This record gives sequence, structure tokens and C-alpha cells, in this order.
Amino acid sequence: MKQTLRIGYGEDSHRLEVGRELWLGGVRLESERGAVAHSDGDVLLHALSDALLSALALGDIGALFPDTQPQWKDLASEVILETVLQKVGPGRHLEQISAVIVLDQPKLGPFRATIQQNLAQLSKLPPDRVGLTFKTSEGLAPNHVQCRVVVWLEES
Ligand code: C5P
Ligand code: MG
Repeated sequence: MKQTLRIGYGEDSHRLEVGRELWLGGVRLESERGAVAHSDGDVLLHALSDALLSALALGDIGALFPDTQPQWKDLASEVILETVLQKVGPGRHLEQISAVIVLDQPKLGPFRATIQQNLAQLSKLPPDRVGLTFKTSEGLAPNHVQCRVVVWLEES
């Protein structure tokens, strides 16, 4: 039987430190603390890229872009996502993204539309195909940002 649907799951987390930048879905957020990372530490773009690679059974971003190799060191998350999206087609397309972000501070509610629109644009999806859920850790991980993403791909 012809396979028409692929599901992918990805996750990422980073430690937060005062004085670092906080990027989420390609959007820089006002925040006292940000991700400790080689590049921008955008957990949403990293988890999304891994979810897409998982759906395609193509490994993960660490295997594809090893930061031990100079050309992949400090690679921008948007470039990773763009490269991974190129592997989706032809013959398949991304249908939907569902993401959960766990972060205590700052509150993300006010940035929902901005992050949703930017992620939709980067992923070439309409915004109503990009679901964003924000959760606190209830104080269990105040120095931590974590993201889990599920994607749905279809043969086109
Ligand atoms: O984690 P908790 O269930 O307590 O989150 C309550 C609400 O706070 C959620 O509905 C979510 O939209 C919002 N939230 C937020 N920014 C965060 C974490 C949670 O806007 N960083
Ligand atoms: Mg709760």
C-alpha cells in the first residue's frame, strides 16, 4: 500500500543564562536571560528541523551538520531549517506543525502571533497550520528552555 503520511517528532533544550539572547522560532524576544549555545540556541527551529528529519528518517541535525566541521560551526538555525525543508520535497510537503515550549520566563503569550507568523513564513505554511503551546515548568527548571515538536508530512 502506498504510504501517504509521515509523522515526525523532535525536541531540543538549552540552559539559560543572564546576558544571552533568547531566540524562538526565528524571533528575538526581550528577555533578561537567553540560551547558552554555539549559535542562536533557537530550540523551536532546532526541534522543528529534527522533527522533519525524523519524519524523513534522515537522522538528525547533529549528524547532518556536525559542529566539529568548520563549515557547520555556529550555523544559523534558519539555514538549518531551510536546508532540511529542501529535503522534504519534491513529492512531499509539510502539512502541519505542533510545538510545545516549556519556559518559566518571559511569558510568551504576548509574542504568540509574532512567533506563529514567523514560523509559518519560514516553513511555507499558513499560520493556522502552526500550533504553539506554552507551558511553565512550575519553577522546576527556571534556567531552562525546552521545545517539543510534532510535524505531519504528506506525499503530494
Ligand atoms: O505551565 P502553565 O500551565 O502554568 O501555563 C499557564 C499559561 O501560561 C499557559 O496557558 C501559557 O499560555 C502561558 N505561558 C506563557 N508563557 C510561558 C509559559 C506559559 O504565556 N513562558
Ligand atoms: Mg499548569
